[in-house]
Amino acid sequence: MSDAATPDFRHVEVNGVRLAYNDVGEGPTILFIHGFMLDRTMWRSQVAALDGWRRIAPDLRGHGLSEAPEGGYRMATYADDLAALLDVLGVRRTVLCRLSMGGYIAFEFLRRHRDRVAGLVIMDARAAADSPARRARRNAMIARALDSGSEGFADELTPKFLAESAPGVMKRQLREMMERTPPNGIVGALEAMRDRPDSRPLLRTLASVPCLLLIGECDARVPRASMQAMAGQIPGARFAVIPDAGHVAPFENPAAVISRLREFLDEISTDSCG
Ligand code: MLT
Repeated sequence: MSDAATPDFRHVEVNGVRLAYNDVGEGPTILFIHGFMLDRTMWRSQVAALDGWRRIAPDLRGHGLSEAPEGGYRMATYADDLAALLDVLGVRRTVLCRLSMGGYIAFEFLRRHRDRVAGLVIMDARAAADSPARRARRNAMIARALDSGSEGFADELTPKFLAESAPGVMKRQLREMMERTPPNGIVGALEAMRDRPDSRPLLRTLASVPCLLLIGECDARVPRASMQAMAGQIPGARFAVIPDAGHVAPFENPAAVISRLREFLDEISTDSCG
């Protein structure tokens, strides 16, 4: 997917790193956080559609057109990058809308900057930390990524992210997005995911935060039952399944995600974010 899709992106240096981001519209703020080996363009349909809201979509460090330093990737670093970006953009509170690894970052953001969160949308993510077996798989992935580089690794992962029925053009666009992730960013993100803490204890403390949980009907990476269980542990959370989508529902079925987001955002007090 080319940057023609989000032509007005800018760069800013925050927290010691240069981040690319889109900042579109006016009103209460929603911050979009993409997943592993993806970038801000995965949200382009939502960024285009949600008028009445200020839509901010950065590329995380090590992804897309943001800088990819050689080490120092932690969930805490990503979360602090986002808080520093909000500071620069003059945003005090925001709704967080995040997918998968973006979800792990948002949990860390909640631990560190909770007073800045006016609402939470969680898509295709897990709350538990990695099991020992998953940690070993992450280490094997790090070795493969170093061996095969961004292109080879994008080849391996693209089919696992999309629903089997995804059209060829979508597969190509996702693969291009993944290939843009430099090896430093891939390795850093895998290490950060491997070492992330268990966020399950956080869930029951979220009663005062409006929450919506979404999962793609054909997500092969996150079991639907685990998202359902997560919804059950967050007081008052809503849960819905997005049809015709795998792991990257906002990209695969943008209209269905936009409609769920609209419903949810309409219910949030807009005085509380901006
Ligand atoms: C992601 O899409 O961000 C990753 O698949 C998350 C993970 O591997 O746990």
